[in-house]
Amino acid sequence: MAKIVIAGGEPLNGEVQISGAKNAVLPILCATLLADNAVEIGNVPHLHDVTTTMELLGEMGVQLIVDEKLTITADPSHVTNTVAPYELVKTMRASILVLGPLLARFGHAEVALPGGCAIGSRPVDQHIRGLQALGATVLVEGGFIKASAKRLKGARYVFDMVTVTGTENVMMAATLASGVTVLENCAQEPEVVDLAHCLNAMGARVEGAGTNKITIYGVDRLHGGHYDVLPDRIETGTFLVAGAITGGRVLAKKTRADTMDAVLAKLEEAGAHVNTTVDTIEVDMRGNRPKAVSLTTAPYPAFPTDMQAQFAAMNTIAEGVGVITETIFENRFMHLNELTRLGADVRIEGNTAIIRGVKKMTGAPIMATDLRASASLVLAGLVAEGETTVDRVYHIDRGYENIEEKLGGLGARIRRLPG
Ligand code: EPU
Repeated sequence: MAKIVIAGGEPLNGEVQISGAKNAVLPILCATLLADNAVEIGNVPHLHDVTTTMELLGEMGVQLIVDEKLTITADPSHVTNTVAPYELVKTMRASILVLGPLLARFGHAEVALPGGCAIGSRPVDQHIRGLQALGATVLVEGGFIKASAKRLKGARYVFDMVTVTGTENVMMAATLASGVTVLENCAQEPEVVDLAHCLNAMGARVEGAGTNKITIYGVDRLHGGHYDVLPDRIETGTFLVAGAITGGRVLAKKTRADTMDAVLAKLEEAGAHVNTTVDTIEVDMRGNRPKAVSLTTAPYPAFPTDMQAQFAAMNTIAEGVGVITETIFENRFMHLNELTRLGADVRIEGNTAIIRGVKKMTGAPIMATDLRASASLVLAGLVAEGETTVDRVYHIDRGYENIEEKLGGLGARIRRLPG
């Protein structure tokens, strides 16, 4: 298995170009199933999860063309298969996002039940209930969610809890329903807004995305078009923490500062000087050690769970004690046990981690367990003295484009050992 080897201790300094957002491009690729003709998607990041989604859409009969300018053209006019097999769904839970579009456009969908994953049990009951509210018949049988409906009918549905892909799935399905759908207690993440913008560019009538109430006026068909994916706020945040944890300076370009308020506020609390323009963010620690920050993860616009592991890594070498509470996923502290192998001082009590910053950590072999956990281990490796080897880095390739090249461009001594 491939490994990443980092020789830590260098403050990072430089500029990094941010890629398109993983959690926006995945639903947008699935949304192309709703259209009658080809949709062109720009600013697509080169990620393993994108390849998996293309494989899934390809199996269904979507014709895909990728050009070197980060553009994918997806032509769904010859879809023949409405089944998402377990082999693909088990490697990427976001495959559930084909459920709503397939059902709405073809009246039928079978998607393998994703099951649990490293960060928690992650049920999909809200996806199912939302589609049932629109009139779908849904059976769970033989490990598959089997959904059917002649034509979905607009309805009101209030989500039991805030769910990002749940909101996206039901919102996509409602675009082709007859009549008006009102969804309440919706996720307000920028990726939900980006998907709504893309749907509207395809002829849908979605209003209110970015608030907790989304109204969808159903239309008979969606057409092709062009849409550019929004920049990745989690990739941005990860590089900014790389600057902060090493006492350095990082300028993230082609990003969106307005999607990152909670993260930037915590970086300032950690002692970073933060400067933003519309599409750049600079974090400068001016050689200082970060101060520990306490935070609680919660749905957007609060602090994102997808940045929790990176801030935990920063707290390990910060001045003071940081208390981190994870409220979204029940098992998202796996990185902390690995960080103790580098010398971190961590105590876990339920969904809270108390991290007492140490002055220095030392490199060791450590193992990635999920995507954001791997990012936090790489960040810790940047500051630990000596050599840190991160095993199972395939997790990181799911969501970070060329991470070692991008960090290398900032002055990190990092290389990949092929498996
Ligand atoms: N939940 C339910 N029932 C449902 C749906 C969700 O109980 O039907 C619970 C989940 O178990 C969890 C909470 O609701 O406790 C929120 O989960 P959510 O559905 O919002 O997560 P998701 O849509 O499966 C997306 C991102 C995750 C990100 C979360 C939270 C995508 C493709 N994935 O997952 O991204 O952590 O929202 O913001 O958008 C990542 O990129 O590393 C990643 C895991």
